[in-house]
Amino acid sequence: MEPTLLVTGASGQLGARVLHHLLHTLKVPAGRVFAASRKPEALAEWAAQGVTVRAADFDNADALPAAFQGVQRVLVVSTDALDRPGRRLEQHRNALRAAEQAGVAHLVYTSMPKPESSAVLFAPDHAGTEAALAASALPGWTVLRDNWYFENQLMGLAPAIASGKWYSAEGDGRIAHIARDDVARAAACVLAGNAAGKTRYTLTGCRAYSRQEIVSLLSRATGKPIEVVPVPLEGLVQGMVAAGMPQPIARVVASFDANTAAGGLADVTGDYRALTGVEPQSFEAWVAASRLAA
Ligand SMILES: NC(=O)c1ccc[n+]([C@@H]2O[C@H](COP(=O)([O-])OP(=O)(O)OC[C@H]3O[C@@H](n4cnc5c(N)ncnc54)[C@H](OP(=O)(O)O)[C@@H]3O)[C@@H](O)[C@H]2O)c1
Repeated sequence: MEPTLLVTGASGQLGARVLHHLLHTLKVPAGRVFAASRKPEALAEWAAQGVTVRAADFDNADALPAAFQGVQRVLVVSTDALDRPGRRLEQHRNALRAAEQAGVAHLVYTSMPKPESSAVLFAPDHAGTEAALAASALPGWTVLRDNWYFENQLMGLAPAIASGKWYSAEGDGRIAHIARDDVARAAACVLAGNAAGKTRYTLTGCRAYSRQEIVSLLSRATGKPIEVVPVPLEGLVQGMVAAGMPQPIARVVASFDANTAAGGLADVTGDYRALTGVEPQSFEAWVAASRLAA
């Protein structure tokens, strides 16, 4: 019997692409695929393709084991509480405990590069989840330490186009970022594969880019002049707060720059290719395909 596979957070952007790759890239029969979400009603499109839909909210620990019942391999997509450090760890621990109770054989988790030493303010949530996995009774697990998505760059693009300036405290740091869709493809390959041990991979693109390189590419693609303006970390926080961002969020966003400056995202690995058998998209190709020109 081929194992059944479940994706949590299936209504999110990553979860949806994992389901796409399971069904359409890897051709896993829909009868083996389960999709779980806090909003199962948002998954009607997958149900229509034969996927079994379940309700799963990591804040509702008591109901979680039922969501994982009868499933052999589970992808736990990390949750998105940006401004409350510690909350994600609680949620992920609930998911891990439920997977143990339900008898899941292999759990895949989406982490971040070097969470134990990262300057990112929510990194301890990922490090704590990895530690909880290592201490769990689960027979097997795979941690996917995902570098930043290319898509993250679009968050800073509109204000940078408006002002002509991209404020950065990243110094000479580099980012080995990767397309969200490639992260999804790798996660689908691990979930549908037969990995049974306890392994960590770091998913990156094919090379690491400086802020100047990223901004030059975005500037060319949009046809808008954007200058990189180096600022100290605290100046970056105050600038975001002055622009209307709540201070706790501004501190999290600024911690991304601190982490990049410290080299936390610079390592390039061949793990994506090893897991999928194909090359990751380049940032240049992704920018071109994204048609960013106004
Ligand atoms: N590497 C990166 O650059 C990067 C960037 C952004 C985020 N992330 C991380 O990767 C995850 C997936 O990214 P994305 O782009 O798909 O983000 P997204 O579209 O914002 O999705 C958020 C995800 O969090 C899930 N979630 C939130 N609260 C939950 C809860 N209480 N119980 C269970 N699931 C919960 C959502 O599931 P449902 O709504 O279906 O329940 C959804 O899958 C994010 O949640 C975050 O941890 C990574």
